[in-house]
Amino acid sequence: MKKELIDVMITEAAIQKRVEELGEEISRDYSGQKVLLIGILKGAVVLLADLMRKITIDMEIDFIAVSSYGDGTESSGVVKIDKDVGQSIEGKHVILVEDILDTGTTLSSLSKHFAKGNPESLKICVLLDKPERRTKTDVRADYIGFTIPDKFVVGYGLDYAQRYRQVPYIGVLRFEE
Ligand code: IMP
Ligand code: MG
Repeated sequence: MKKELIDVMITEAAIQKRVEELGEEISRDYSGQKVLLIGILKGAVVLLADLMRKITIDMEIDFIAVSSYGDGTESSGVVKIDKDVGQSIEGKHVILVEDILDTGTTLSSLSKHFAKGNPESLKICVLLDKPERRTKTDVRADYIGFTIPDKFVVGYGLDYAQRYRQVPYIGVLRFEE
């Protein structure tokens, strides 16, 4: 059986520092207003939980669940909404929170979905961005934690076959004989 190893790419301390900065930036940008953070399950739970505690303005959270990836390391390209948010987003300042912007399939599809709900504004916050993978869509995130090379990463919410989401840092998965 192949052994799975994780090489650290972004340390826990670096993530915490960057998430704090993102929270401050969001609080500044929406000063005096209220935001609705919508976490995309399941990968965004860790970022959302940390980010919301760094936001000093009025806010609410909600979640949407989608499936697109399957259990491997390549996207299927089809985005299905398994659970939608439990409220109208009309007139609200919505920020979609996601673990990673990879091919952009998920966020481009969800941006279209939420635009139909007539929000006052709609932005995207991701911990990680892999711009090299953006060949099929042109979706961009407004708040980006880290831009990373095209490597399959796990930890801080990101999984490999549903595992490793609890790892507190971002690591590159490596298989060894
Ligand atoms: P996209 O639709 O191709 O942008 O993919 C977005 C989703 O694919 C993310 O929400 C993740 O769940 C998953 N994903 C993309 N890259 C990685 C990775 O490097 N590690 C783990 N999951 C990933
Ligand atoms: Mg995933």
